[in-house]
Amino acid sequence: MVRLAIARGHEVINLDALTYAACLENVASVADSPLYSFEQADIRDPDALARIFAAHAPEAVLHLAAESHVDRSIDGPGAFIETNITGTYNLLQAARSHWETQGRPESFRFHHVSTDEVFGSLGATGAFTEDTPYDPRSPYSASKAASDHLVRAWHETYGLPVLLTNCSNNYGPFHFPEKLVPVVILNALAGKPLPIYGNGANVRDWLYVEDHADALLCVLQGGQVGRSYNIGGESERTNLDLVRMICAILDEKRPGAQPYGDLIAFVADRPGHDARYAIDPTRIRDELAGGLCHAARGAGKNRSVVSR
Ligand SMILES: NC(=O)c1ccc[n+]([C@@H]2O[C@H](COP(=O)([O-])OP(=O)(O)OC[C@H]3O[C@@H](n4cnc5c(N)ncnc54)[C@H](O)[C@@H]3O)[C@@H](O)[C@H]2O)c1
Repeated sequence: MVRLAIARGHEVINLDALTYAACLENVASVADSPLYSFEQADIRDPDALARIFAAHAPEAVLHLAAESHVDRSIDGPGAFIETNITGTYNLLQAARSHWETQGRPESFRFHHVSTDEVFGSLGATGAFTEDTPYDPRSPYSASKAASDHLVRAWHETYGLPVLLTNCSNNYGPFHFPEKLVPVVILNALAGKPLPIYGNGANVRDWLYVEDHADALLCVLQGGQVGRSYNIGGESERTNLDLVRMICAILDEKRPGAQPYGDLIAFVADRPGHDARYAIDPTRIRDELAGGLCHAARGAGKNRSVVSR
């Protein structure tokens, strides 16, 4: 997101607590840009947020900071409550105070980035629309659902100009190695087992991360205030098919003594494991595809998991 926004000429203040999930090398290519500055701060710290808003007077907030790994939320939900709920509350309050001090400019935006996991689990057919009732089932998705509700409430109650997006599973460069796609690639190259939960039948809708960043900028610039937009890649795969696809690509690019697929190992399922997620991206396509949004025009499909 940071790299794309700077490439498009936007000034970016990157606020990050640098938790275990952060890596400043991921933004090394833009770190010397006059458009880039970095603030190490925790969204659980309201004083730090007040100082940063006063120092930089941002025209928009793109809120991606979160605890994001479902397995970690099962082992230790506390950090998810603190960062995703209380942290979002702090950021809303800091943004609101800044927006009111500036005379409530209509052009200000607070864009909250959320997940399709707030909608729960689908059966074999259908897809999540923006009107699908919330039904979170893990501590992670429940904390993100709570943050979505706070953002909507700050719009309805205080008039803060907010936008929300709910996206499907991202993949692509700089992916943190605890998530499925990099785990499979790294384990395969190291000759280690490729762990797949349950029978591998869980379905995810894979979205290339640069298409997601493109869609976020599109919504930030053209989305209707107070509205939410679902962002997906229209690229559904079972986990087993995804892992087999990665193995087939590695067999071609880095042939080993035996096919990488032989390393697949089914492990005990994750508690409350959602069966299927799928996004219906009709709203973003209908409302925003005529504008700046490359991904919403369907170009994102060309960069789907199939072609990479
Ligand atoms: N990756 C996906 O597939 C996916 C899918 C749907 C939604 N999302 C959402 O997109 C956003 C970004 O996801 P990601 O995969 O890049 O997450 P990530 O876990 O890889 O990175 C999160 C970032 O937030 C920072 N952070 C964490 N707690 C913080 C705090 N208290 N204060 C300040 N910074 C903090 C971390 O240091 C890290 O840089 C999250 O809000 C997530 O819920 C991600």
